[in-house]
Amino acid sequence: MPRLFRVKPMSMLTAEAAEQGEHTLKRSLSALNLITLGIGAVIGAGIFTLTGQAAALHAGPAVALSFVLAGLTCAFAGLCYAEFASIIPIAGSAYTYGYATLGELVAWIIGWDLTLEYAFGASTVASGWAGYFNSLLQQFGITFPPALTTTTGNVLVKYQGIWMDRMSLPPGISDAGLPHVTGLFNLLAVLIVLAVTTILVIGIKESANFNSAIVIIKLGIVGVFLVVGALYLFGHPQVASANWHPFIPPPDGHGNFGIWGIPAAAASIFFAYIGFDAVSTAAQEAKNPQRDMPIGILGSLVVCTILYIAVSLVLTGLVSYKTLNVSAPVALAIDATGVGWGSVLVKIGAVFGLATVMLVMLLGQTRVFYSMSKDGLLPKVFSEVHPKFRTPWITTIIFGCFAALMPAFLPIDKLAELVNIGTLLAFTIVSAGVWILRVRHPNMHRPFKTPFVPLVPVLGIISAVYLMFNLALVTWAVMIGWLIVGLVIYFSYSRKHSKVQALPESVAAGD
Ligand code: ALA
Repeated sequence: MPRLFRVKPMSMLTAEAAEQGEHTLKRSLSALNLITLGIGAVIGAGIFTLTGQAAALHAGPAVALSFVLAGLTCAFAGLCYAEFASIIPIAGSAYTYGYATLGELVAWIIGWDLTLEYAFGASTVASGWAGYFNSLLQQFGITFPPALTTTTGNVLVKYQGIWMDRMSLPPGISDAGLPHVTGLFNLLAVLIVLAVTTILVIGIKESANFNSAIVIIKLGIVGVFLVVGALYLFGHPQVASANWHPFIPPPDGHGNFGIWGIPAAAASIFFAYIGFDAVSTAAQEAKNPQRDMPIGILGSLVVCTILYIAVSLVLTGLVSYKTLNVSAPVALAIDATGVGWGSVLVKIGAVFGLATVMLVMLLGQTRVFYSMSKDGLLPKVFSEVHPKFRTPWITTIIFGCFAALMPAFLPIDKLAELVNIGTLLAFTIVSAGVWILRVRHPNMHRPFKTPFVPLVPVLGIISAVYLMFNLALVTWAVMIGWLIVGLVIYFSYSRKHSKVQALPESVAAGD
């Protein structure tokens, strides 16, 4: 039994980090690349959709405080990720950190669990992207065959010349009598994921450059929203004052609004923060990982937290929070300023923004499986590096197809909570791992040290577990089912092929 908890020796990890040559990943990312990778992964569907829903249903204008709360949870975990990423600069992120501290079985569970965050995350966002893109196309008078813009079996209705989901109809409008069409499969989602996959196969530097260019556009558009919104609010202080009072609406008796509405909203908008941890999966492709990984992880987290708090304040200042339960709340709010081009601009921001989220999520997924395969826990094909592109091309193509087909046929957007729970489990294990490593190897060289250990890791664990308990039972059930599938694979394949299991007892015990 203890063999299941064998840890991967630090000497093995250090040797892997130093590997070079055409069959290894290429170290080409700077600190700025890493920050933009983080921002690329983070700003997406969460801010463009969930903020409005969380304000309307749970917290009112106090959703800004929910962003502070969720941001703190991420900060605790982010500090722990930063320490690990500076010590163990190889590709597997939480999986590798788990292997170094908690042993093989926990590492396997976390590696398998990360699929929920990264592959399912990319699929979820692809679904949202298709909706935004289709709406934008139609705004420019281009109509894609509607049956190819949504998941199999989903019904779209045509209202005022625009095909949309029934849920997106304005309040009070019935779908009875409107033209409708049933989805065949979501070709738009397939096409965007395949495009992103192609960029990822071609090269890490190319992917990072593409990401950086789009991050600039998306930050620019979020910036325009903030400036236009803030100028309007300064010019119309009575609007802001009416919409912001009461800042914390009175409780509705169902756990929403009031003080307890703030953590309830935090559990759902947590999705908006997901992705900064994906920076750590690129550790093996960073030029100077010891110094730059903490900068990338924490830098992107700080930028996104500030933007999120500002966006949520402007959003709830411009319009009453009660009107924000719509699929494009940011577009709705900018419309209220009277700027005609506002909603098109916001939709363009969402289309660009969501593309990079998919890119970095898929990047993370492939790097985790790359590491698991290098350790012998998955077949070799997952760590096959293309000799010219120096990317794990086969695993990228496999997951690209997986992430493309899921939203084509399944209503994956309904599974966004799974992405939250998978990520929170990873946060819990990484926080625990930092503490364990401090106890086990107190004198190890740590280029970045998490402050106040064990307080920060303990707060990281408590806040992540607290948010997990705010998620639905069905989400827990699906996660447990997914982990059971993983354990079957572990006991039937991985354990027998593990390189760490094959180490002589003396080497394994020596660490
Ligand atoms: N944080 C990412 C988003 O909001 C997953 O789309």
